[in-house]
Amino acid sequence: MFKVENLRFTYPKNSTETIQGISFEIAKGEIFGFLGPSGAGKSTTQKILIKLLDKYQGLISYNGKNIAELDHSFFEEIGVSFEMPIHFSKMTAMENINFFLKLYKKNADVEQLMKRVGLWEDRDKMVGEYSKGMKIRLNFVRAMLNSPEMLFLDEPTNGLDPSNAMVLKDMIREFKKGGGTVFLTSHIMTDVDQLCDRVAFVVEGKIIEIDSPRNLKIKYGKRTMKLEYKENGKTVTEEFSMEDIGRNEKFISLLQTKEIETLHSGETTLEDIFIHVTGVGLNHEE
Ligand SMILES: Nc1ncnc2c1ncn2[C@@H]1O[C@H](COP(=O)(O)OP(=O)(O)O)[C@@H](O)[C@H]1O
Ligand SMILES: [Mg+2]
Repeated sequence: MFKVENLRFTYPKNSTETIQGISFEIAKGEIFGFLGPSGAGKSTTQKILIKLLDKYQGLISYNGKNIAELDHSFFEEIGVSFEMPIHFSKMTAMENINFFLKLYKKNADVEQLMKRVGLWEDRDKMVGEYSKGMKIRLNFVRAMLNSPEMLFLDEPTNGLDPSNAMVLKDMIREFKKGGGTVFLTSHIMTDVDQLCDRVAFVVEGKIIEIDSPRNLKIKYGKRTMKLEYKENGKTVTEEFSMEDIGRNEKFISLLQTKEIETLHSGETTLEDIFIHVTGVGLNHEE
């Protein structure tokens, strides 16, 4: 559905390349996560993919067509949310929505969307009076206004409280269920882990690894079993390799003879894997 081949980009005033030759494909119906720390080039990439930035090198195609040659119909088919929500603050939420609705041929059910994100009651409030979280949710509604085929979401849950983040994630999953395709950027590991079919690890404009969260965990995960048991009133912890654990006599004997407190497989988190693979952390930006 979407294909990026050897994309390179340098901002006009910069001397170094911000995007240093990245390639990936997004299949129809897939949620593809672009994960990296602040400054990795996530927002820049999204802006190029939606034709906001040009003068890049490489080839980007949407349904087999070079996006550089696509006309305005491309914007009828995609929904976009930017990292920094920009709305008309002296207009109400509904006035903002109606303004953008008019730009599109196809219109989504606004009442349903606004109810879903919990903004319907506040639809006639000035957006200037909205909290940051409300603006982010309104931003997401705007991305959905034209019932798009494909969504581009830049840090969609950043700045949302956990319950509102959950609502948005559910909506993104439902969008996929309805056949939608998603490109999303994030530095929030749990978002990517819970939502994405595949994820790219991005650092300094390069993709270091691409795979499903599950495969990454299998590939880089520490395959261990951690056992905690009581002995003489104290808790003792032992770690065993998962290889041949069914024949590990010490492990089996502990299970049979001790009072077991906890037993955990040592599944690595995606965050540990990211640090392991890229050598950098995902410090949480604002
Ligand atoms: N308009 C711009 N002009 C020059 N450099 C920019 C501009 N926007 C972003 N950059 C630089 O490009 C790099 C990537 O930025 P960005 O794509 O926003 O990263 P991310 O979204 O991963 O945090 C950063 O080093 C940033 O300073
Ligand atoms: Mg960004």
